[in-house]
Order: sequence, then C-alpha cells, then structure tokens
Amino acid sequence: MVVVFKHTPVLLDEVVTLIDPKEGETVLDVTLGLGGHAETLLKKIGARGVLIGLDADAKNLAQAQVRLSVLPGRKEFRHANFRDLAQLDLPKVDILFADLGLSSPHVDEPGRGFTFREDAPLDLRFDRSRGLSAVLWLQRISLDDLTRALREFGELKDARRLARKLKEGEMNTTFSIVRAVEAVFGWKAPSVMAQVFQALRIAVNDELGALDALLSSGPTLLKSGGRMGVISYHSLEDRRVKQAFRVLTTAPKHADTGQDLHPADYSPLTRKAVVPSDEEQHRNPRSRSAKLRVIMRRTSALS
Ligand SMILES: C[S@@+](CC[C@H](N)C(=O)[O-])C[C@H]1O[C@@H](n2cnc3c(N)ncnc32)[C@H](O)[C@@H]1O
Repeated sequence: MVVVFKHTPVLLDEVVTLIDPKEGETVLDVTLGLGGHAETLLKKIGARGVLIGLDADAKNLAQAQVRLSVLPGRKEFRHANFRDLAQLDLPKVDILFADLGLSSPHVDEPGRGFTFREDAPLDLRFDRSRGLSAVLWLQRISLDDLTRALREFGELKDARRLARKLKEGEMNTTFSIVRAVEAVFGWKAPSVMAQVFQALRIAVNDELGALDALLSSGPTLLKSGGRMGVISYHSLEDRRVKQAFRVLTTAPKHADTGQDLHPADYSPLTRKAVVPSDEEQHRNPRSRSAKLRVIMRRTSALS
C-alpha cells in the first residue's frame, strides 16, 4: 500500500506576497518537501516559468515530483543537500526559497525516528543515503561533543548527565532515548523530551552547518532584483538568518569617516521577521515557531 503523507505549507500567503513570483521567473526551492510552497509558486510563474526543486529526502522529493508534474512550466528535481548549492552548477534565479527543518511525514511516518511518541529505529536523517544514523552517530561521538550538542542545540541544562547516560547504554531506538531521558530528568522528562530529539536531529543532520553554507552561497545565486526567503523554526536558525541578512543588507562603511562606501548589494524586504497569524497557528500548530525573512538583490548589484 502506498501511503501519501501531507504537509501544510507555512506562511504561504506571506511568502507569495513578499517574494512576489512573476510570470516566466525561475524559482529555486531548496527544501521542496511535499511541494506545498512550490505548487503555489509554480502556478504564479506559469508555463514560461522554471522550478528547480531540491530536497535531501528522496521520498519527499519523489512525492513532490508526482504532485507538481501535472502543472505547466519547466521543472527540474535534484536529490541534494542545500549545503552543496555552490557545487550544483545551478543557474542564477529570480527566487530562492528555503523552508527549514523537518516536514510532517518525518514525524508522521513510523520508522524514521523523528518522534519520541512512537518506538522506532533511531535514524533521524533527512537523507538516509548519506551520513551516520543517530545510532551510529551516538556511538562515535565523544562525551564532550555530545554534551555540547545537547546543550547548544537542545538548550538543555544537565546536558552532561544525559550525555553520560546516552553513552552508557545501547541507544538503538527512540524509546531507548526516552528511557534515558526519564532516568536523568525524572518527572521533568516530558518537558525536555522535544529538546533532546531536536538536539539529536540538528546534530545528526548538521543542520546549522548546512544553513551557514546556504546563507553564504544562496544570495550569490540571485539575479538582479532576485528575492531570497527563509522560514526558520527555532532561535538557533533564526539568529543565523537574521545575522547573515543584516550583513548582506548593510552598506560597507569607510574605515575613517564611517560613511557608506556604496549601497549594500541586498535590501531587506522584511524589517522584522514575519510570523504566522493567530488563525494560522491555531489551524496548523506546527507553524507556531515559524519566522520568515526575505531579502532582495539590488538591481545595481552584479549578477
Ligand atoms: C519544512 S519541509 C518543507 C515543506 C515544503 N515547503 C512544503 O510546503 O511542502 C523541509 C524540507 O527540507 C528538507 N531538508 C532539510 N534540510 C535540508 C538540507 N540541508 N538540504 C535539502 N533539503 C533539506 C527536508 O527533508 C524537508 O523535506
């Protein structure tokens, strides 16, 4: 039986309004997922438009491909990690869009190991064809690095005690992690469980390293007037997006006079992060922590 998973695109109206896709434009969606945002963007760019869709998860990519194949417009699908954008030999684009993190199928599909609510092999990779599963990652990482990952990516207090516990036993399944967290945190365990799984997921996929690479290579792929939008889901991501976009949209200054040497190559299309309305948060609780930031490459910037 083929199970079709669903994912509700987050901040869809806001993305379309701010990114403003136009007839005939080229869109690069580096987190295609199930193609929710891409479907709407594709309809806007029409039959003369081009969509390039990337995802690290081959299964999501295949499902999006089926969904989008019925729409007009040229499409290209790549099973790739956006950390490798600079090496993918991509053309310059009008729109680059990233909707970070995991998709609903990662949580809903039993056996991926993303949720602590079900017992499953502890994998936690977006791309199961590359890298180490969480089981192997936990076996190979040092106690110090594991402590750091739990503290930094899960913002966990008592990370050292949990790291010791995780290194002690066989951690092959999601429930082996749950039991270790319960042993260390006792009655407080339910309140930290999501943080522990978030920390492991971020570490196993090196999500912040991939995001840094995207923030460095992505803006250079924009044509003059091109727009780049990123939706992040936690403060570790948003801080990076905010900082990178601030640097790109700040004019370089003269060292002595402090005067602008020339205008910045990019301008912000969002002064503050855009967040979902109360209605969207209510309708789609997974949108709650979302933050959207958008920049535009100035027409005067080299392309
Ligand atoms: C939030 S979902 C995107 C949902 C999509 N916008 C939609 O509406 O269907 C994020 C997707 O990005 C993928 N992903 C996460 N990190 C990635 C990376 N470094 N490179 C490529 N894809 C990544 C995940 O596999 C997932 O399918």
